[in-house]
Amino acid sequence: MSMTNAQIAERGSTVLVGNYAPQPIALVRGEGCWLFDAEGNRFLDLMGGIATAVLGHAHPRLRAALEEQASRLWHVSNLYTTEPQIDLAERLTSHSFAEAVYFCNSGAEANEAALKLARRHHRDHDRDRFEIVAFEGAFHGRTLFTVSATGTPAYWEGFEPLVPGFHHAPWGDLDAVRTLLCERTAAILVEPIQGEGGIRLPPPGFLEGLRDLANENGCLLIFDEVQVGIGRTGSLFAHEQDDVTPDIMTLAKALGGGIPIGAMCTTRELSAALVPGTHASTFGGNPLACAVATVVIDELLEGGILDHAKAMGERLGLGLAAIAAEAGPDRVLETRGRGLLRGLALAKPPGAIIDACRERGVLVISAGGDVLRLAPPLVISAEEIDHGLAVLREVLLECG
Ligand SMILES: Cc1ncc(COP(=O)(O)O)c(C=O)c1O
Repeated sequence: MSMTNAQIAERGSTVLVGNYAPQPIALVRGEGCWLFDAEGNRFLDLMGGIATAVLGHAHPRLRAALEEQASRLWHVSNLYTTEPQIDLAERLTSHSFAEAVYFCNSGAEANEAALKLARRHHRDHDRDRFEIVAFEGAFHGRTLFTVSATGTPAYWEGFEPLVPGFHHAPWGDLDAVRTLLCERTAAILVEPIQGEGGIRLPPPGFLEGLRDLANENGCLLIFDEVQVGIGRTGSLFAHEQDDVTPDIMTLAKALGGGIPIGAMCTTRELSAALVPGTHASTFGGNPLACAVATVVIDELLEGGILDHAKAMGERLGLGLAAIAAEAGPDRVLETRGRGLLRGLALAKPPGAIIDACRERGVLVISAGGDVLRLAPPLVISAEEIDHGLAVLREVLLECG
């Protein structure tokens, strides 16, 4: 007889490090926007593996790409040339400002590479610029360098000493950034929309202002698009909607549609700092991951998914605004987001709402403490959104 959710969780608790606190279901299968647990219950996925399963689960084109590549070549390292990473880099460079791509395996690694590149670039030009200006509420990953960039002490407390040279400005405060910039600044690091920090949009003109400040100071501008890139906000890259171009952009999460991959995208000129021997990753550019990610980009651009995501994002946003109005400010303080990255800022921590939604077959997650976060697959249908909204409304009105 197959095991229950609780039995599987019990097995996990005896052999896994306890750094996660998984919800009490063991997921065994996914199809489109639906997930199935070990007991055969099904759930509407409104969290997309934390903004990652961008084409839903078991997408036929992604499966075909993975199977096709799996029958040819899995891994040889970067000591040899492999074509899948070139295919993917061509997609990324032809649809963005970038001219050169470095592949790795996660968002933290992509940011690590971006920060190292920024420092090295200045060193190569005999400038003693090593400081980074980042933001309060930011999240950039869990390596020591990226956790030092993360603007919330809970993520780094106990791991000190941190990497030196980081400053954090209040979110949206250009004057504060101006005072932190100096002749030692290597780069400004920013998420075009703060994800983990609570789906916080930048104030109008903020990203543009950062571009101007970086130009005036002579430092680089890095956009962390790990959560908001690859169609999540309705355009391939979130910063396209602000009409601002960074010097470096990092990607991960949705890039592989569920296969681990990260990328650091930059200009040819800046990429010159990473000569052979300066930086590397054994698995970076792995053929399996790159073959799948290439199809993710093709499907988004050719399959009409971006337009669909935009329309579904509007529908979700309007539905959440209606729920917020009905629930009132005692329960919902604010609706936030863009495209299919949405948040409800709640008056209370969202744990009970998340549990009640799951018990009624809908998976949602939190962000930044008191924010309920929705980041469904971009292929979600209007009926699925309406179903998710109906459950969320019921739960919020009952236990919000
Ligand atoms: C904006 C941003 N940057 C970086 C990361 C770290 O990515 P990873 O967990 O793949 O290392 C995350 C993860 O949530 C993120 O949201």
